[in-house]
Amino acid sequence: MTTQPVGIHDLSFATTHYALDHAVLAERLGVDVDKYYLGIGQEKMSVAAADEDIVTIAAAAARPILARHGTDDIRTVLLATESGVDQSKAAGLYLHSLIGLPNTARVVEIKQACYGGTAGLQFAAGLIARDPSQRVLVIATDIAKYELDSPGEPTQGAAAVAMLVSANPAILQLDPQSGLYSADIMDFWRPNYSTAAMVDGKTSVNAYQKAAQEAWTDYRRKGGRELTEFAAFCYHQPFTKMAYKAHRHLLESQGHTADAAEIDAAIKDTTLYNRTVGNSYTASLYLGLMSLLDHAGDLTDRALAFISYGSGSVAEFFSGTVQPGYAEHLRTDANRQAISTRETLDYKRYRELHEAHSPTDGMYHPTLEETSRPYRLSALSGHKRIYESR
Ligand code: COA
Repeated sequence: MTTQPVGIHDLSFATTHYALDHAVLAERLGVDVDKYYLGIGQEKMSVAAADEDIVTIAAAAARPILARHGTDDIRTVLLATESGVDQSKAAGLYLHSLIGLPNTARVVEIKQACYGGTAGLQFAAGLIARDPSQRVLVIATDIAKYELDSPGEPTQGAAAVAMLVSANPAILQLDPQSGLYSADIMDFWRPNYSTAAMVDGKTSVNAYQKAAQEAWTDYRRKGGRELTEFAAFCYHQPFTKMAYKAHRHLLESQGHTADAAEIDAAIKDTTLYNRTVGNSYTASLYLGLMSLLDHAGDLTDRALAFISYGSGSVAEFFSGTVQPGYAEHLRTDANRQAISTRETLDYKRYRELHEAHSPTDGMYHPTLEETSRPYRLSALSGHKRIYESR
């Protein structure tokens, strides 16, 4: 087991041009809006414009990290997604031309539902333990899409979180212990022929809670911290209420009385961005971390717990310590701006965007210019995706 301090050195977030208000969806579907606001804990969701995809938001998330740190020593780029744009080419390779990744870095795409970002983080930590002079850029980027008029529809969303992982990190040092739990479950999946995910919501909620508990048990077996040591718990959030449910389940499974105020104190600050961005699959857990760091009081030297869950399924419980001086490295204003500058989407356009399909004839198809963000998918031509930066 390594003693080299490894963890998150920098963190940056991007989301789409549009947002849909859950009040609009509730009205259209004839649902009491409190089912969304209170029942699942969602107020809005980010929606991709016609000229946005996981590449454009990934590039927007990663650009500030490269601007601050340069590309020196980045030898690996791991892009995690479950809404990939190609079955063969790693989406991260498009970032070379958009943001100038080094040619001397391996670029790989990782998939395991919403767990992929954590796989990237842990693989990065392993590479850095082997050679602490290297840095790894991990990008979690997803656009969550469920069928229209389905129970999953209000739990859509979109975001990318980019993380620079290094030795002697400025923001979060990872603990060496990690708890794992994997099992073959059909709670959420997306066959190659479908653009929308398929989900058995109730099965997924139960599978998530069981997997989190099992991963915790394994974490403790590996010598991890006590539950009482953590200042906060960052959960994967397919909808923010899920974090509350899973935490209550975890506490009760360990014989703790689950007091509502105690759960709120452990969870609430991690949910504030996800509540308005929606599910961002691989990025969701790390958006939870960013929300916590941007909203909580001083967390210097405090331990944080992370519960990653990817349907299908893999769960991991891991932890880390917030580093002295971390607040100077945060991007709180930029994060809030990414959310506040979204254009409110009307229901008609939302539905058109949802129902649009990529052309498959290989002809030149320019995309409608909609996004105000720095990168856009400008066309599809010859079965190739053509991106541009502004
Ligand atoms: N006011 C307040 N709360 C209300 C309400 C109202 N008017 N109406 C309903 N609710 C509550 C329900 O009591 C329920 O709360 P509970 O879960 O604490 O019991 C909650 O809102 C959801 O209602 P429910 O009827 O269960 O919703 P649903 O059948 O539409 O499905 C999900 C909800 C979350 C299961 C569904 O949106 C889904 O499957 N989402 C995808 C999840 C996913 O992606 N999982 C895989 C990755 S982990």
